[in-house]
Amino acid sequence: MKYTKCWLDYPQICREEKDTRLVFSEFNGAVAEKALEELTRGFRGLYGQELKRTEGEAALRLVRRESIHPEGYRIAANHGQCRIESGSEQGALYGVFALLRKLRLENVSLEGLSWETEATPSNPLRMLNHWDNMDGSIERGYSGKSFFFEKEQILVNERTEDYARLAASVGINGVVINNVNVRSAATWLISDRYYKPLGEMQRIFASWGIRLYLSVNYCAPMEMDNLPLADPCDSRVQEWWKKKAAEVWENLPGLGGFLVKADSEGRPGPFTYGRTQAEGANMLADAVAPFGGKILWRCFVYNCRQDWRDTKTDRARAAYDYFLPLDGSFRDNVILQIKNGPMDFQVREPVTPLFGALKKTNTMIEFQIAQEYTGQQRHVCYLMPWFRQVLEQDMCAPGVPSRVADLVSGRSFGNKNCGMTAVCNTGNDENWTGHDLAAANWYGFGRQAYDTELDPAEIAREWVKLTFGGEPRVVQTLTDILMESWPAYEKYNAPLGIGWMVNPHEHYGPSVDGYEYDRWGTYHRADWKGIGVDRTEKGTGYCGQYNEPLASCYANLETCPDELVLFFHHLPYTYVLKSGKTVIQHIYDTHFEGAEIAASFLERLEGIRELLPEDAYNRMHARLVHQGEHAKEWRDVINSYFYRKSGIPDAQGRTIY
Ligand code: GCU
Repeated sequence: MKYTKCWLDYPQICREEKDTRLVFSEFNGAVAEKALEELTRGFRGLYGQELKRTEGEAALRLVRRESIHPEGYRIAANHGQCRIESGSEQGALYGVFALLRKLRLENVSLEGLSWETEATPSNPLRMLNHWDNMDGSIERGYSGKSFFFEKEQILVNERTEDYARLAASVGINGVVINNVNVRSAATWLISDRYYKPLGEMQRIFASWGIRLYLSVNYCAPMEMDNLPLADPCDSRVQEWWKKKAAEVWENLPGLGGFLVKADSEGRPGPFTYGRTQAEGANMLADAVAPFGGKILWRCFVYNCRQDWRDTKTDRARAAYDYFLPLDGSFRDNVILQIKNGPMDFQVREPVTPLFGALKKTNTMIEFQIAQEYTGQQRHVCYLMPWFRQVLEQDMCAPGVPSRVADLVSGRSFGNKNCGMTAVCNTGNDENWTGHDLAAANWYGFGRQAYDTELDPAEIAREWVKLTFGGEPRVVQTLTDILMESWPAYEKYNAPLGIGWMVNPHEHYGPSVDGYEYDRWGTYHRADWKGIGVDRTEKGTGYCGQYNEPLASCYANLETCPDELVLFFHHLPYTYVLKSGKTVIQHIYDTHFEGAEIAASFLERLEGIRELLPEDAYNRMHARLVHQGEHAKEWRDVINSYFYRKSGIPDAQGRTIY
């Protein structure tokens, strides 16, 4: 099947006079081989030049330097001579990608480049989670079918290799290939039905410095071997997992470990047996420890059978309430995988208060680049500005640097197994991500996980240049669209941090009361006088889960930021925000503005039509037409709903239905 090269194409920059160039490498091994192949591919494409390996003098040198981080690199390029140093072949591979990126971005020959740079990854673990099912479907997938599975078989082909190359090029070093909801055939991934193809896939991943991980079913002992229970404290269950782990690692040496969604949305877990999350996770951790395996244990544990009349139970509180008391009781090879917000990948949420509260536990932040609630890759919504805000949020842990970026990297409390993961947005569509512009989220997430201090606008600009070339109008227009897309999406969606208001189940399109009288714990509590959830101590008490002064900042109306005010407070429509507008007028204004910005994306794309490849242009055009219309739908549904509820007209007299 034909598919695009995304940001890893090497179109010719200039033709070099000498048609060979010498390269020398101190590294051996499969990853070093990929690094050299990539250099070869790059120089052939960019300059029509062949690389020749040598043991002697060479223009390009890959050098081992123990003092440099094994996944970091140092590059010194000086007019035709270039040295890439690293502590291991993996860092050398990243250095090669960085050099090729630089040459493309600067549009120069190696002779034209004078550059020194150094990089150390911010996060030890930089992962992607695929929610791919073995029948080929993808949970919350918006880019076609799985390229990992089809008809309960594992696919290993050219695309596997290209996927790994794209992921490695932005620094990804771990991938979970199957959905966290592990059912039917996927339960059997850890059996000899699948070891052979998994081994092949793993070998490809490993050659790009990526570890393979698998999601497992907590009830596997029952489903695979008819054990009567899956109680983590039962010795039969413990033995089963020990034997299973030995078998798995014998067949798949180098496997990263298991990802587990337990006691969550109907999935089984330790709670069934009156055990804690730590007892559940540690049992698995002990089984995989002899093989260096890790357990990624998700904290998405909450009561999904809430009565909507119950205003005291608060889904936002759940992860903290369950997991904080267990701080310090998890094994070293357990990593708690925690969603960025306390609800579920909404366009805006506060940061989960577990970050900055857990101290003696490895944690990893889970973002979602599959745009489940942010336009499903039909709307453009570049998420790096949002993730960057999350990473910059200070969680006010006493006595340590405690921005989310510090906490999830493990720096704050000296934890080793930490990092960032994202629910991935790829599928077997020709362009990998459905919307061509959604690939910026895939690229951007990897770049940001590797270096949390990068500027999202800079990442966007890079991605546009690498994908569509350096024509200034293209770079400007597409970078602007990307950078304006998340703020615009937020404007025409649920207002002021309240979230949801989507059609149930599919999560696409506006339905203000879609989840209001349902069991999922996701309420806006709007009536004719006001809207919002009181999470102060008079309400659910959620604010109190934050460290001071953050707790008071959110609890206090004078200091609570506008963009989250309805998440924390129930307010009358006439309440005046810090912006000087009333809540109701804010709703009207932002919805008109947001829809207008979304509509402008189309015209702006049309303005650069002749500068873009026709197929990519056509795909983006169709999606932007839809987005413009759909943003209007959002605008009118939300505005009409609140006009009808409140009876308060728009101060500007615009049409509301
Ligand atoms: C969301 C999503 C589900 C997913 C779940 C999870 O609720 O809608 O499809 O399974 O998150 O993260 O486990």
